[in-house]
Amino acid sequence: MSIQQDNIARLVERRAAARLGGGEKRIEAQHSKGKLTARERLDLLLDAGSFEEFDMFVQHRCTNFGMDASHIDGDGVVTGQGTINGRLVYVFAQDFTVNGGSLSKTMSEKICKVMDMAARNGAPCIGLNDSGGARIQEGIDSLAGYGEIFERNILSSGVVPQISGIFGPCAGGAVYSPALTDFTLMVKDTSYMFLTGPAVVKSVTGEEVSQEELGGASVHAGKSGVAHFCAESEQEGIETIKKLLSFIPQNNMEAAPERPTNDPAGRTDDSLNEIIPDNPNKAYDMYKVIGAVVDDGEFFEIHKDFAKNIIVGFAHMGGRSVGIVANQPGVLAGVLDINASRKAARFVRFCDAFNIPLVTLVDVPGFLCGTQQEYGAIITNGAKLLYAYGEATVPKVTVTLRKSYGGAHIVMSCKQLRGDVNYAWPSAEIAVMGAKGAVGILKGVEEQEYNDLFCNPYQAAQKGYIEDVIEPRNTRFRVIRALETLDGKRQEMPAKKHDNLPL
Ligand code: HXC
Repeated sequence: MSIQQDNIARLVERRAAARLGGGEKRIEAQHSKGKLTARERLDLLLDAGSFEEFDMFVQHRCTNFGMDASHIDGDGVVTGQGTINGRLVYVFAQDFTVNGGSLSKTMSEKICKVMDMAARNGAPCIGLNDSGGARIQEGIDSLAGYGEIFERNILSSGVVPQISGIFGPCAGGAVYSPALTDFTLMVKDTSYMFLTGPAVVKSVTGEEVSQEELGGASVHAGKSGVAHFCAESEQEGIETIKKLLSFIPQNNMEAAPERPTNDPAGRTDDSLNEIIPDNPNKAYDMYKVIGAVVDDGEFFEIHKDFAKNIIVGFAHMGGRSVGIVANQPGVLAGVLDINASRKAARFVRFCDAFNIPLVTLVDVPGFLCGTQQEYGAIITNGAKLLYAYGEATVPKVTVTLRKSYGGAHIVMSCKQLRGDVNYAWPSAEIAVMGAKGAVGILKGVEEQEYNDLFCNPYQAAQKGYIEDVIEPRNTRFRVIRALETLDGKRQEMPAKKHDNLPL
């Protein structure tokens, strides 16, 4: 064998060893838990043959506790670039087979390198997490590594999309990197996120709780809202990430990719003329309205299981990617509460940061009242949504379907919050409150008189607070036409260091 052949053989050998991470046994152990390895996940995520790995030969530098005796090329994370449906992305996938994917300083350097490249080159950064947290043997170095990652999460926020997949444990302060990213996806039964695990919880508070109950996927997708998506399997989780990417741009300077459709922009839907029940206290399903107006009836929902009284998600309208925000009269009558406000505010801010127009469908009886909401700061949380809509400069098209009362009317993308085009259906009731509440306060006023005056869209239309009253069946066509006219919209914010969003 020539020297060169020998060199190449050595490279091939080292690459093969690096690809095995912690070795066959640990890969088997990973599989036996129903989990894929870091590399298998990347294979599913990225277009075939597109992955270019970086830092495959990087090793940890720790000498404590005999760590200097064991080195694995690449350490506990696989990093690099690739494409998803032809679009560039930067990725890191923690490798649980190497020291439980625990974060060494060198691992953080590898992760920071791809985060920096993503920000510099204007491409999304996707992190697949599966880690025991800070590498205990490295002490403060590992914490410093987390700090470096968090800082980059913050600097990249609103510049390039950041997506976190949680495919295993994610504990301690490590959960804050996903929390700083735009979207977090968890997998049922195999992933969990918490600040401290069940043992510490028991010793501190006495509470006995399982990992799943404390920080499993359904808890975070349904109760805390920490997770935007809860997948049944890793494969489904990876497909969800790919689908999500198809609605969003590469960075904050670009528009989201258009998706050509055969669904005519002028398609009308007669079922919408019938969808509002005669009884104002009766619910209907807002998903039906969304399905009827978006391209091909396809809606990609975010936070599906959290705060179901409001619906948020992406769709295409006339080929354009849009963010849909809609009250759901079928859940809590569509009232705005703390969680609904937080959920929608975060979504509106994402869309605004990444140039995705907002389409808002309104049927809201107001804010939820009572001590639970007040003690939980509905004032501050409701203000988040108000703020998010008010500061958003992307095109905003609003359609009021039925109720739009009081503060909730203002919050839901009204004209005065720089709504660009505001329509209402003939069934709209744009008023300070519903007739029953009003006549209880205004002595001597008849319900009929109040209804005639306020429970319709014409007061608002008369004063120019809405552009037009439209027939429900024409909603798709009208919204798409409005969006077309708003393509060139430019709106500046006053100069400031940054805003002071009511957190
Ligand atoms: C070093 C670790 C490790 C860690 C796991 N390993 N976590 N090594 N530092 N944090 C190693 C184990 O020693 C083991 O090595 C291998 O990874 C696999 O771990 P197991 O325990 O065998 O796996 P499993 O039974 O699946 O349990 C996984 C686990 C558990 C639940 C994640 O390992 C665990 O509880 N780890 C500690 C979690 C934790 O408290 N981390 C620190 C959080 S504080 P061998 O060689 O024996 O197979 C934190 C601060 C971050 O992260 C702050 C950021 C600001």
